[in-house]
Amino acid sequence: MIIAVDGPAAAGKGTLARALAAHFGFHFLDTGSLYRMVALAVLSRGEDPRDPESATMAAATLDPKSWNAEALRDEMVGQAASIVAAIPSVRAALLNLQRSFAARKPGAVLDGRDIGTVVCPEAEAKIFVTASPQERARRRTAELAQRGKTIAYEAVLADIHKRDARDRSRSFAPLVPAGDAYVLDTTDLDINAAVAAAIRYVDSRVVKRSA
Ligand code: DC
Repeated sequence: MIIAVDGPAAAGKGTLARALAAHFGFHFLDTGSLYRMVALAVLSRGEDPRDPESATMAAATLDPKSWNAEALRDEMVGQAASIVAAIPSVRAALLNLQRSFAARKPGAVLDGRDIGTVVCPEAEAKIFVTASPQERARRRTAELAQRGKTIAYEAVLADIHKRDARDRSRSFAPLVPAGDAYVLDTTDLDINAAVAAAIRYVDSRVVKRSA
């Protein structure tokens, strides 16, 4: 079984997807980290994330050692990830890896932007997690502060607007809910309530599948 969890930056996709994977005993892949790894590789070579050749080369030769790098979570790397993610050949280079992961037994949860629309359109369960930009900025500011990084709320909000606009307007695999996705707005939900709602939805899909 495949569970696709898509949505904009800082909507809580990662926390929700990890909780679903733990609940159902499935494998978990944060696909945003793949784009962040590409961005980090390009930046650390002093190259430009807008350069398709450099970004595509980085995507084709991902260094697994950078998978857990602390720098992956930096806002600058997030912005650069959103830039390399708009390059079709970068997306194409990462597609097989994501699809083979999705085929793992007994099931997989993948979180990203285009899992339900492009990577795994056949996923049995698709959740589009969202929240207002203000609430997402509030959560991201708190998360950064917890990691010892004090960044003004207004700056985080501006970054979120910028990344949303780029992720939504790109012509290839833009951020949009799949037609058959369950849209989960977590603006007024805490994480427990959001996870409970997501589990109820996935359970309903499992029942439908086995009926
Ligand atoms: O989820 P994240 O913030 O770690 O993702 C970083 C960037 O990668 C995001 O701005 C857009 C891009 N991305 C994507 O285009 N497709 C995905 N499946 C996952 C991430």
